[in-house]
Amino acid sequence: MKTPRQEVEAIVAATAQTLYGADVSAGPYVRPCPDTRHGDFQTNLAMVQAKKAGKNPRELAQQIVDALAEHSVFEKPEIAGPGFVNFRLKAGYCAAQTHARSQDVRLGVEPAVQPLKVVIDYSGPNIAKELHVGHLRSTILGDSLARLFRFLGHNVISDNHLGDWGTQFGIVILGYKRDTNKERFEQDPIGYLEEVYVRTQNASKTDDTIREAARAELVKLQAGDPENVALWKSFIDHSLQSLDRTYSRLDVKFDYTLGESFYNDRLPGVVKALLDAGIARETEGAIAVFSDGTLPQKDDPFIVTEKGGAFRDNPFLIRKSDGGFNYATTDLATLQYRKEHFHADKVIYVTDSRQQMHFAQLFATEKRWNLGLNLQHVWFGAILGADKKPLKTRDGGTVKLRALLDEAQERAEKIITEKRPDLEADKRNDLAQVVGIGALKYADLAQNRNLDYVFNWDKLLAFDGNTAPYLINAYVRIRAIFRKLGSEAPQVERLVLAEEAEIALAKKLLDFGDSLTLAADEYRPHYLCVYLFELAGLFHKFYEHCPVLISEGETKTSRLVLCALTAQTLKTGLALLGIKTVEQM
Ligand code: ARG
Repeated sequence: MKTPRQEVEAIVAATAQTLYGADVSAGPYVRPCPDTRHGDFQTNLAMVQAKKAGKNPRELAQQIVDALAEHSVFEKPEIAGPGFVNFRLKAGYCAAQTHARSQDVRLGVEPAVQPLKVVIDYSGPNIAKELHVGHLRSTILGDSLARLFRFLGHNVISDNHLGDWGTQFGIVILGYKRDTNKERFEQDPIGYLEEVYVRTQNASKTDDTIREAARAELVKLQAGDPENVALWKSFIDHSLQSLDRTYSRLDVKFDYTLGESFYNDRLPGVVKALLDAGIARETEGAIAVFSDGTLPQKDDPFIVTEKGGAFRDNPFLIRKSDGGFNYATTDLATLQYRKEHFHADKVIYVTDSRQQMHFAQLFATEKRWNLGLNLQHVWFGAILGADKKPLKTRDGGTVKLRALLDEAQERAEKIITEKRPDLEADKRNDLAQVVGIGALKYADLAQNRNLDYVFNWDKLLAFDGNTAPYLINAYVRIRAIFRKLGSEAPQVERLVLAEEAEIALAKKLLDFGDSLTLAADEYRPHYLCVYLFELAGLFHKFYEHCPVLISEGETKTSRLVLCALTAQTLKTGLALLGIKTVEQM
């Protein structure tokens, strides 16, 4: 089903074609009115056209209004300001559209006409270390994008690109071999490996023999030494088990977990291909991609422009002078694989802002290599503590993700216990899990991802404000109406909407599809959060002004349908953010 915006867009585009022979697909011709008192949508078509033809915009606006005067979708359009044309949706149109959506499991959102094969690369932790707070955003954002693209009808492959290869393993293997306290490993393998890593890494800074020994272990691993390979494999197994526990608490799943090591065999071929194609060249024994001068200087990721305007090379290293491959080589091989095996159209990477240069160079190299992929780097800022510095534990350590999830649940449980001391313990526990984890996820997703945000438990767990508890509670309140009623919403032939609050709620319900497209097009789930928050607000207003259970006849049935569609929209929207709902609280 078309959203009202799409409906008005199509009508105005057709009018533009009739009046001016304009290209129908040239829009957008229509956007929401900044102030809803003046209408629901507006177009500046008359102004654009008047400028082109040197005519009076208000006269052209009048022409458009005359051409559109009678319509089933909107009232007679009005001219405003210098030549805007404003549209107000008819209540009858809103009622019919709301009715249609209430009978559709997809709530009127149609799947993509041309589904894309979309690979989403998120979380990607470096293993033999615990997940920490820094991994939260990538995991949560990526998961939400995967859900969103899937719902929109695309063919999504989620892939966890684990950092399971590289210099850190020389250090971990050496540390593990030298350490005698293997009991710790049995009890808490990942905690232990992380400790061993930190200790050995620190020691190697002042002791060359340790650094050399670590290098030797790495070379042995890379050469396939059975003992080191076996150790490396067991570290990976333990890491995967520990990761899976956290992912399952977060309700995050991956279709594939192909770590960096998966691509080892491909790396020499990738370097050769780029050399043969003249994309990479040798430089002081190493091999790198340099600028080919085709991009404007300011957009060229292979050069750095200095203050005075002078510039120097910023090569993309794909083979080190010692013959080793690196992160860049692996990512190129991964792209090749995703193209060949997944037939990807699009690849979305979700990482923090510090990797922007890496991906700019990777994407520019891919272009020259002609893989023909649509590549997107979805980057995000940091999570800050109250002191506006990256979030740390009280003693200055990194915040473990596990501990963060525990605390979210504990705090949610405390709040729930205060509200509902009568509930049984395991019910409270279940609720705390949904509300606590949901609140943590929502606090992250509701942010414009490019900004840093300050982490605040009280804010994110509040039952009022733009939070998951508030939205889950709105859903719960609607479900309570149906419990009182003793049945679900009735099947009706039509809806009647008369009150302003009913119409405002219905209009919001019709915009659901727009919020999803916007969030997906810009890879920003926070647009969906804004939508859900506004929807819940309009529902509360409606519920205040329009009694449901004590009303009668078509008024009552129509209101019940509005309630049911609101609940369904909240539940679906939250699910696309990876947030669960409960029926009762
Ligand atoms: N392991 C990387 C890190 O921790 C993230 C991987 C992102 N994905 C990729 N294909 N480069 O920073």
